[in-house]
Amino acid sequence: MIFRQLFDSTSSTYSYLLASRRGGEALIIDPVLERVDRYLKLINELDLHLVKAVDTHIHADHVTGLGALRDKTQCITVMGEMAKVDVVSMRVAEGDTLTIEGLSLDVLYTPGHTDDSYSYLMGDRVFTGDTLLIRGTGRTDFQNGSSRAQYDSIFNRLLKLPDETMVYPAHDYKGDTVSTIGEERRYNPRLQVRSVDEYIELMANLKLPNPKMMDVAVPANMHVGLHQEDLAKQGLALSARDAINSLGRPDILLVDLREAGERTKHGTISGALHAPYPGISESLQPGGMLREVAAATGRRVVFFCAFGERSAMAVAAAKNAGLANTAHIEGGIDAWKKVGGPVAMG
Ligand SMILES: [Fe+2]
Repeated sequence: MIFRQLFDSTSSTYSYLLASRRGGEALIIDPVLERVDRYLKLINELDLHLVKAVDTHIHADHVTGLGALRDKTQCITVMGEMAKVDVVSMRVAEGDTLTIEGLSLDVLYTPGHTDDSYSYLMGDRVFTGDTLLIRGTGRTDFQNGSSRAQYDSIFNRLLKLPDETMVYPAHDYKGDTVSTIGEERRYNPRLQVRSVDEYIELMANLKLPNPKMMDVAVPANMHVGLHQEDLAKQGLALSARDAINSLGRPDILLVDLREAGERTKHGTISGALHAPYPGISESLQPGGMLREVAAATGRRVVFFCAFGERSAMAVAAAKNAGLANTAHIEGGIDAWKKVGGPVAMG
């Protein structure tokens, strides 16, 4: 496995680059905007293909690299369903599994530092964001933070993991790089409390100044979505309503770009072909499945995904591959459902 802990010294943020092998798919957790070129260089040197970029929560102390990485690599941006960001490519919730080739991360909803804080468990290690830090915990005094929720997330979720589980946080200000669940239970000064009330009291008396970047970072991090209106202007987008009206038309081929798990959980549009986004470039090349189906049937390929990002990138990829007659459903199946589009489950 390739596992790299990368540090941004300005915000003391740790980002994590994961892949199962050289030459394979990679995922990055909590990338920092100013470090994006460095990540891309490393990804290139290790011959990796970045497919997912994940934020554990909306950060207040640095601007996320999610949007820039998506624009430069066409990767899938991922956040939890509670994150109040305009658009990400994929949203995950408690109990979901986030996968790339050869790796799988369990999604744990661990609110408290913010109400959109998630941790990601990958076998013997857990990425705790700002929920659990090394000998510390993330502050709970803004972004809908809650010391009570954080106590529950830490004591009833994270500390229930095996003692030897390695803890990889989103920040460290003292130079520590990794800890374990057992070590934190015993030596984290914030966790030496006898009750939730004692924890709430402790957190209420920290009196921390606001992060320097907060007024810039939070609004920026809430607007990470791809600008889908450009495609609409070029006539390459269908609104969800237009898409509903075109259901069953013989000249249109609907293509669902989401993963199997998303289709099972959120339903799909009946009659749609399933072609997961990570394989789309290949499928659009001459000889590729979508290319051949489009040619053989003469139908216009209409991509859709969860929120319209993967489908927008697929339209661009199709154009680059010389397949001009495509479009996407703006806002994805989320928008489709919101205007009453029929969804097939199972
Ligand atoms: Fe944070």
